[in-house]
Amino acid sequence: MIRFRSINVLCCVVALAGALAATTPTPARATSSYVGSAACQPCHAGEYEKFQKHSKKAKSWKSVATMAPKLTPEELRGCYECHVTGYGKGGFVDHATTPQFADVGCETCHGPGAAHADAGDPALIGKPTMTTCEGCHNASRVRSFGFKPLLHSGAH
Ligand code: HEC
Ligand code: HEC
Ligand code: HEC
Ligand code: HEC
Repeated sequence: MIRFRSINVLCCVVALAGALAATTPTPARATSSYVGSAACQPCHAGEYEKFQKHSKKAKSWKSVATMAPKLTPEELRGCYECHVTGYGKGGFVDHATTPQFADVGCETCHGPGAAHADAGDPALIGKPTMTTCEGCHNASRVRSFGFKPLLHSGAH
């Protein structure tokens, strides 16, 4: 069912891309902005549901919120680097104004997804590598020194 719908979407996108190719340059992935994980759900329901249900990332704001009363504002901002989506990069600002980015969402691994979510074009979304993980799962943070997360764990 999902496959079927994806293929339909893809067909439309291919047709549309063809129609626009003459006039509009393809937007580069790097110029995309953040949209939040909920925007991925309509087309990737399976990944979305598994992620929300099983990944601790989907609840990573809670880890920060629990400890927040004991932290200085500066310490709290330090947490955002790894516990929210796109802090300082056009994503998370604060919980009141950008609640959709207040967890470690799809786009922390796949990169900003607005252009891809608009077009459904797979060329406009990133695929993570170990380097992506190490931005947050670095030696100073992980409990056992030298821990390397498996690329496919902790996602969906
Ligand atoms: C309008 C529908 C649509 C939305 C919204 C959407 N996608 Fe996709 N996505 C697709 C289609 C179509 C494909 C290609 C076929 C497939 O893999 O199902 C795809 C493929 C992908 C791929 C694989 C790319 C590759 O190189 O194979 C990733 C990763 C992805 N999407 C992530 C996301 C994320 C993250 C979001 C939310 C920010 C998102 N998508 C939102 C339609 C969508
Ligand atoms: C933006 C920062 C960030 C990136 C990038 C990141 N992680 Fe995480 N990850 C976290 C945080 C934060 C937690 C802990 C969430 C909590 O418990 O509050 C976590 C938890 C996990 C866990 C614990 C188990 C679970 O269910 O979530 C695994 C496994 C994991 N990540 C794997 C990965 C892998 C593999 C990659 C790369 C493909 C990756 N992570 C990229 C921040 C990140
Ligand atoms: C450099 C990235 C990074 C920063 C900065 C960071 N965290 Fe984390 N945090 C992680 C990762 C990765 C995990 C999951 C793996 C682990 O347990 O080591 C995690 C896990 C946690 C957990 C869950 C631990 C458990 O036992 O399940 C809490 C709570 C937490 N962080 C709070 C915070 C707070 C509060 C801050 C700010 C003072 C902060 N973190 C800053 C990366 C980070
Ligand atoms: C912890 C990092 C991480 C997070 C968070 C994450 N993904 Fe992925 N995703 C991956 C990895 C790793 C792959 C496999 C890439 C490869 O095969 O090269 C992948 C692949 C995909 C694919 C391609 C099809 C597949 O399953 O292999 C889609 C679609 C996708 N992700 C969507 C999402 C959506 C939607 C979310 C949020 C609900 C999300 N991802 C969150 C790491 C992540």
